[in-house]
Amino acid sequence: MQTSSSQFDTRAVHGGMDGVRASGSHVPVIDFSTTNPLPSVDVGGLSYEELATGHELGDGRSAVYQRLWQPGVARFEEALADLEGTEGAVAFASGMAALAAALIAAASAGRPHIVAVRPLYGGTDHVLESGLLGTRVTWADAAGIGAAIEPDTGLVVVETPANPTLELLDLRRVADAAGDVPLLVDNTFATPVLQRPAEHGATLVLHSATKYLGGHGDVMGGVVAADREWAERLRRVRALTGGLLHPMAAYLLHRGLRTLPIRVRAQQATAAVLAERLASHPAVAGVRYPGLPGQDPQRLLGRQLDGPGSIIALDLAGGYESAARFTEACELVTHAVSLGGVDSLVQHPASLTHRPVAGDAKPDAGVVRLSVGLEHVDDLTSDLMAALDAAAEAGSLAAAPTLADAR
Ligand SMILES: Cc1ncc(COP(=O)(O)O)c(C=O)c1O
Repeated sequence: MQTSSSQFDTRAVHGGMDGVRASGSHVPVIDFSTTNPLPSVDVGGLSYEELATGHELGDGRSAVYQRLWQPGVARFEEALADLEGTEGAVAFASGMAALAAALIAAASAGRPHIVAVRPLYGGTDHVLESGLLGTRVTWADAAGIGAAIEPDTGLVVVETPANPTLELLDLRRVADAAGDVPLLVDNTFATPVLQRPAEHGATLVLHSATKYLGGHGDVMGGVVAADREWAERLRRVRALTGGLLHPMAAYLLHRGLRTLPIRVRAQQATAAVLAERLASHPAVAGVRYPGLPGQDPQRLLGRQLDGPGSIIALDLAGGYESAARFTEACELVTHAVSLGGVDSLVQHPASLTHRPVAGDAKPDAGVVRLSVGLEHVDDLTSDLMAALDAAAEAGSLAAAPTLADAR
């Protein structure tokens, strides 16, 4: 049995498992019930009232209906909250559903103004810029957060390391600048293995659980770790808007947490080697990876971030043509969006994940984002070096004078 003083890796394996052994099972049984038999009208009514207003399932109460409470989802939430060091967590159908719930909670409390620091995941940027959920955004840099705050600011939103170019933020400084305004940190890239933002002043810690938490590219989900009060607000939004996690997805995400520490560390070890190797190729103008010399000027590694992670962004010298050719020439590495799984993926942010981002904030056309998986580092090196050879050729062809130029 784990205790709160157990080491992180032990808690990752045993979190959210209370009562499973006592029930005679080794792993949780998946309950697919959409509705639950009620012991009486009174208990049903009281349970409904409590759950629909965001409270947890109380003793002697009924779960009533899957949109209000689901035991496997609650297990995953308990395990994730424990790893992030928060009082609670609330899981959703996707990372975007989780973000939407946080924005709706802020806006509906009369605080629709959001201060956000770019870069962010393109979908996050898009939903903030569009104002689709009734929020309005002021974009600030880290030093400008305090000045951007208005009386109705409901959230400060940041991502570190940021998608796709791995910029780092000092969370303690950001939290100080945010003051009383709740700070939401997207911790998808670092995971709680490498960074626990609540320890540095974050109020809400968001994950696209689709990425490292699931870890195998076969389950979508999102989760926000927070204190009890925010967890209640978010559960209420989930109960009323229905962006809930499916029980099968909750099972897979909970299972994913059990191997999260070893996956994150193994993928990181490979990424650190690749970042150095890829930098030597002439097609590469720059490698963005927090573990490389000079890329952590605030010295956050070891203080806030326990390691550089396993996402690398490459700046290709030949611009868009090289980037396009590179992604298409990868064979072992799959050309696909998403990240954080056991197999390596590559994609071109300016065309895909960050396509909706406004012109000057969009990643450069020569940037490709690589998510390093669990393959052997030498196999990845061979595949990526061959793709860089193809990228170099495409870049030089694009740069070469055409017949029309010559005339
Ligand atoms: C950093 C980050 N946050 C949030 C999201 C959105 O998550 P989802 O795709 O699970 O909705 C993504 C998706 O790529 C992401 O990379």
